[in-house]
Amino acid sequence: MDYQELIDEVYHEVSKLKLKGKVADYIPQLADIDPDLFGIALVDLEGNVYGAGDYRKEFSIQSISKVHTLTMVFHVFKSKLWHRVNVEPSGNPFNSVAQLEYEKGIPRNPFINAGALVITDALVSKFKDPEKDIIKFINEITGHKSVKVNPIVHTSELDHSDRNMALAHFLRAHKNFNNGIDRVLDVYTYHCSLEMNCIDLARSFNFLANDGHCIFADRSILTKRHTQRVNALMLTCGFYDESGEFAFRVGMPGKSGVGGGVAAVMPNKFSVAAFSPQLNDKGNSLKAMKALESLTTKLKFSLF
Ligand code: DON
Repeated sequence: MDYQELIDEVYHEVSKLKLKGKVADYIPQLADIDPDLFGIALVDLEGNVYGAGDYRKEFSIQSISKVHTLTMVFHVFKSKLWHRVNVEPSGNPFNSVAQLEYEKGIPRNPFINAGALVITDALVSKFKDPEKDIIKFINEITGHKSVKVNPIVHTSELDHSDRNMALAHFLRAHKNFNNGIDRVLDVYTYHCSLEMNCIDLARSFNFLANDGHCIFADRSILTKRHTQRVNALMLTCGFYDESGEFAFRVGMPGKSGVGGGVAAVMPNKFSVAAFSPQLNDKGNSLKAMKALESLTTKLKFSLF
């Protein structure tokens, strides 16, 4: 399979579509991006990169970082983690407060904000210097020292984190929060404010396509079984209340972020990242999703 030809075809096909969405602006700093950027990069299991469009342009990875933090925490707490956070699709917006109230403080899954806050709380409990450790981890699995936080986005996120604060208070009321709320919010908004390009994002997901073994770090990041668990969660919960649609149309485990990125894996084949800032009303990138749909439609194989 000629991946470069495939990526070029996908890029040209999706570039021509007249898809109009809205750049995320609930965090004002995120609105400050060229809405027409669009790029895609695929990384195979030998580490070869195939890219098109703005695939070298850095962008805010936002909720995609929840996969990185989940991996760090899952490795430490193993199945004990599932006492604190469930593994069911939520069918609700990513920042829903109501759902946490009627589910008594156990978030539906680790990718909605309530679940990701529990994961970050667990991270703060176990890692001495969480910000440094997150950067170190992502750099290691990317094989490049390229990930960095955007301090302006970080401050902007913190200044607009009322809903996340509310979720953290609910979690604490239900005794599912062990650290200071301000400290956890600071680390959570820090990892949401990380910036990467499509190449490095796809590289950082490559171990999930490779039974947990990272070719860039030259070590196993998760066991094969734990890798299957993370991929199952991405397939069922990676796109919030659009997860079914993504599984139906694209058919790969993946994760989106309101910065316009989507990262996904085809187990035993490749990892891929696409980016375009215009979002649909569920907060997922229109072009990035379309690009991955086109990619899996043109492939001669499928996960299923
Ligand atoms: O918690 C938030 O509001 C954001 N910093 C992360 C949101 C996000 O990316 C949701 N995703 N699609």
